[in-house]
Amino acid sequence: MNKQKRRAVIAGNWKMNMTPSQAVEAVKETAKLTAGAKSCDVVLCVPFVDIAAAAAAAEGTNVKIGAQNVHFEAKGAFTGEISASMLLEAGAEYVIIGHSERRAYFGETDETVNLRTKAALAAGLKVILCLGEVLSERQSGITSEIVSMQTKLDLAGVSAEDMKNVIIAYEPVWAIGTGLTATPEQAEEVCAVIRGVLSELYGKETADGVTVQYGGSMNDANAAELLAKEDVDGGLIGGASLVPEKFAKIVGAAEA
Ligand code: PGA
Repeated sequence: MNKQKRRAVIAGNWKMNMTPSQAVEAVKETAKLTAGAKSCDVVLCVPFVDIAAAAAAAEGTNVKIGAQNVHFEAKGAFTGEISASMLLEAGAEYVIIGHSERRAYFGETDETVNLRTKAALAAGLKVILCLGEVLSERQSGITSEIVSMQTKLDLAGVSAEDMKNVIIAYEPVWAIGTGLTATPEQAEEVCAVIRGVLSELYGKETADGVTVQYGGSMNDANAAELLAKEDVDGGLIGGASLVPEKFAKIVGAAEA
């Protein structure tokens, strides 16, 4: 069993929800309800404009703040984009990269995901790298091939040393926001495939140390059985992270 070698991480992805003042309240409430978490890191990935207020509200608590995207250039004429150094200075420690909503609605490709990942790591951010198959790929029986390819392309040029700051979030696209959670067996199977690819790329010791999350309609009712699986080390939580009580219960399940 190698699960003990890895840190459990429960991360919330607020998506485009919460104004700065709402964020302050939600961070404070989440911090209060998860204050007892010891073996699990608690992260909230918030909209860009909420980062500074959320980071201030999280100070002195065990809640860490992340962003939901980052641009790969350091600065310049990229209207509407945000750089890694801007995120760090605003108070973000983590950043989600390659979320399926960005891939589907904003033209994100494995190439840009890879560029963003390398830029974020070089700047000192911790990366939550999202990947996963769409329904037609699962139905065609090519889930393993798809996630293996994404893992390799998205991590091209990322060193074994840098992998200490990378979390992989396996998020089957058909499970996101749909209420259709993967079964614990489906989640375990694919998280284990991802770890196998990491082992190929970086060796077993590095692969055994990487936190691999499951995401996609994880909630307070189904978290415990998903998190009990050997290769499922945490969760990336959308809808349920907007309700501190629900999110705290998921953190509690990761602690158990
Ligand atoms: P969900 O979202 O928990 O609402 O399905 C997960 C995610 O998009 O990261």
